[in-house]
Amino acid sequence: MADEPDCLLAIESSCDETAAAVIDRDRRVLSNVIASQHELHERFGGVVPEIASRAHLRNVLPVIDTAIADAGVTPDRFAAVAVTDGPGLVGSLLVGMTAAKTLAAVWDVPLVTVDHIRAHIYACRLAAGRDVFPAVGFVVSGGHTHLYDCRDAGTFAPLGATIDDAAGEAFDKAARVLGLPFPGGPAVSRAAEQGDPTAFKFPRPMLGDGLSFSFSGLKTAVLYAAKGVPGGPAVPELTEARIADLAASFEAAVVDVLVAKAFAAVARTGHRRLLVGGGVVANRRLRRELEARGRLEGVDVILSPPEYCTDNAAMAGLAWEDVEAGRFSPLDADVRSGLVRG
Ligand code: KG4
Ligand code: ZN
Repeated sequence: MADEPDCLLAIESSCDETAAAVIDRDRRVLSNVIASQHELHERFGGVVPEIASRAHLRNVLPVIDTAIADAGVTPDRFAAVAVTDGPGLVGSLLVGMTAAKTLAAVWDVPLVTVDHIRAHIYACRLAAGRDVFPAVGFVVSGGHTHLYDCRDAGTFAPLGATIDDAAGEAFDKAARVLGLPFPGGPAVSRAAEQGDPTAFKFPRPMLGDGLSFSFSGLKTAVLYAAKGVPGGPAVPELTEARIADLAASFEAAVVDVLVAKAFAAVARTGHRRLLVGGGVVANRRLRRELEARGRLEGVDVILSPPEYCTDNAAMAGLAWEDVEAGRFSPLDADVRSGLVRG
């Protein structure tokens, strides 16, 4: 007779990472396997949905097998199969969803669907190893820049979001302007380390303007500084030093806005804790400045650790909150490209 099921198998395939993880009831990550497709998309300068779906199809079963083997568990330990249902690329999501439904049916365990954005915030709960709610939750990723009032682990009330580009998208577009490789965030931040963040005076969009963000104008400002204004005077050649200064100045502008708005949300809600997740939290300047401001204001800042910043399935450990509340998903659950509201 097997012991009480005490683990979750989680599957994530919302964009260009195929991932699976095993998380136990105490939110310990027993395995966390990620197959990245970056090199397949690099030459296109962005994720190509059709290529992504096909790569997920090739990767999903080996990734799941490896996650189960790495965790050293057998399927009778699984209390549920968790899977990202959105937001993301529909073709990509369908691969993970189909795998999850099949395994849930074969093993006769419940299915739990997980919101990818909320899961990015939940990465902070895993990292902390303790209860972290209530808090302000902040997701800064390639597709999303969202602030939430998380009164408890199951509540994500929207506070503010970007009205155009997400912060990571701005990094990716700035990288393209500067001739840096995809994905742009790591490349821009590497270049920025050699540059002067005060060399260019880029705007801090919507700084005093509530909890909404806007990054598309900043991308245009980088374009004009790098290549010149159409019909305007010529600008100096894009040398390595100039690229570094542009990258550092751009990064400083994005980070200033992200930090200011995150702490404005903290002030508005009265919560004394800030949870920050998503790919852009891998950025060293952002981490440094969020932590410094937290110390200054006496706010408990919990940042997603670098290994859980970009897409992974461990953060879908959020599904434990549903399992413990008895909330399960039907086996005909669908995927969705957009956000859930409320
Ligand atoms: O969370 P994620 O893996 O995917 C989404 O759900 O969107 O985030 C990917 C984003 C990309 O835009 C990437 O350029 C950005 O995170 N990123 C960074 C850094 N590392 C990844 N942005 C700034 N600095 C970094 N070090
Ligand atoms: Zn993500």
